[in-house]
Amino acid sequence: MYNAKAYSAASATSPLVSTTITRRDPTEHDVQIQILYCGICHSDLHTVRNEWSAFVPTVYPCVPGHEIVGRVTNIGSAVTKFKPGDIAAVGCMVDSDGTCPECLAGLEQFCANTTYTYNAPDKHLGGVTYGGYSDRIVVDQRFVLHVPANLNLAGAAPLLCAGITTYSPLHHWGVTKGKKVGVVGLGGLGHMGVKFAHALGAHVVVFTTSPHKKEDAFRLGADEVVISKNADEVQKHAGSFDFILDTVSDDHDINAHINLLRRDGNITLVGAPEKPLRVSAFGLITGRRSLSGSPIGGIAETQEMLDFCGQHNITADVEVIPIQKVNEAYGRLLRSDVKYRFSIDMASLKSE
Ligand SMILES: NC(=O)c1ccc[n+]([C@@H]2O[C@H](COP(=O)([O-])OP(=O)(O)OC[C@H]3O[C@@H](n4cnc5c(N)ncnc54)[C@H](OP(=O)(O)O)[C@@H]3O)[C@@H](O)[C@H]2O)c1
Ligand SMILES: [Zn+2]
Ligand SMILES: [Zn+2]
Repeated sequence: MYNAKAYSAASATSPLVSTTITRRDPTEHDVQIQILYCGICHSDLHTVRNEWSAFVPTVYPCVPGHEIVGRVTNIGSAVTKFKPGDIAAVGCMVDSDGTCPECLAGLEQFCANTTYTYNAPDKHLGGVTYGGYSDRIVVDQRFVLHVPANLNLAGAAPLLCAGITTYSPLHHWGVTKGKKVGVVGLGGLGHMGVKFAHALGAHVVVFTTSPHKKEDAFRLGADEVVISKNADEVQKHAGSFDFILDTVSDDHDINAHINLLRRDGNITLVGAPEKPLRVSAFGLITGRRSLSGSPIGGIAETQEMLDFCGQHNITADVEVIPIQKVNEAYGRLLRSDVKYRFSIDMASLKSE
């Protein structure tokens, strides 16, 4: 075991502060990574503040972070996928049983025994896993990914959660050229959803509560932008969408969006608000529409997404910050004041 520097929260109401954590020495299948960048996902904030307590209570101290890009510093004797010096990435999962039907199908995100990157029981050290707001991490090679060499690393980090979480449902629901796709919420996930839907050739409509994001939405690949508060503007799209991706992190009226789906259209929730949403049965019944959810994506699909990003030169639009600004960044995230993902430059931990 060895010590690593990190930022952790001591309680749901505490700020993140500098700390030291323990990491395991690499076992034969492990890759040890020096973390270069870690994105800030809204899920980090939900977890730090214990907003998902009804589903998965937060264990403190909590070290969040699951959008990790770094450099391999050491490998176990059985590691074949990486060598020291390689660039490597880790997303929301660090382990799974590898034997259940979900794992065998490459859908580790549905495995009952998945170990999440933070706030999950740590099989090696006991306690809970600690995430990427840290200078080092050790992960089984099965859960470590390759980053295409042409991608900017600060912008690539958010692909590991915001990227795969939007890429996966777009594929699952058959978004291709000619489909009309809505993206609700232009934050970290939303802006990746727009980039992917545009790259897949869809007609993309962004629904935002922030009028000042309109120009950016067009630049990111939207064909149309609707300010969600303007009911008339929203209503013009009634019954027209093949697919809508809802990335909203807080309570909102989902029925307004369900009514925009065509017959048999689907709206998928990737946003995970603290409180349950109210759904009108009529919106679903009248158009035989469906409402789904989608969690991240499997490891093979995550690599496919990264390779797709390499081919299409897609990264997140990031604001790179030192870790000392993480609490301020959380405040800005809650005000929808980020363009469009914070990426922590982990070199800033050296001074702690
Ligand atoms: N399913 C999964 O596997 C998965 C993975 C990662 C994250 N998530 C969840 O996805 C959600 C979004 O994450 P994120 O990192 O993209 O967050 P984010 O950057 O904060 O973006 C959320 C966006 O939602 C919109 N919004 C916020 N509050 C709203 C409200 N009350 N009504 C309407 N719109 C509102 C804002 O967009 P506008 O300013 O454009 O309106 C905001 O930028 C979070 O709940 C997160 O936990 C789920
Ligand atoms: Zn995330
Ligand atoms: Zn499994």
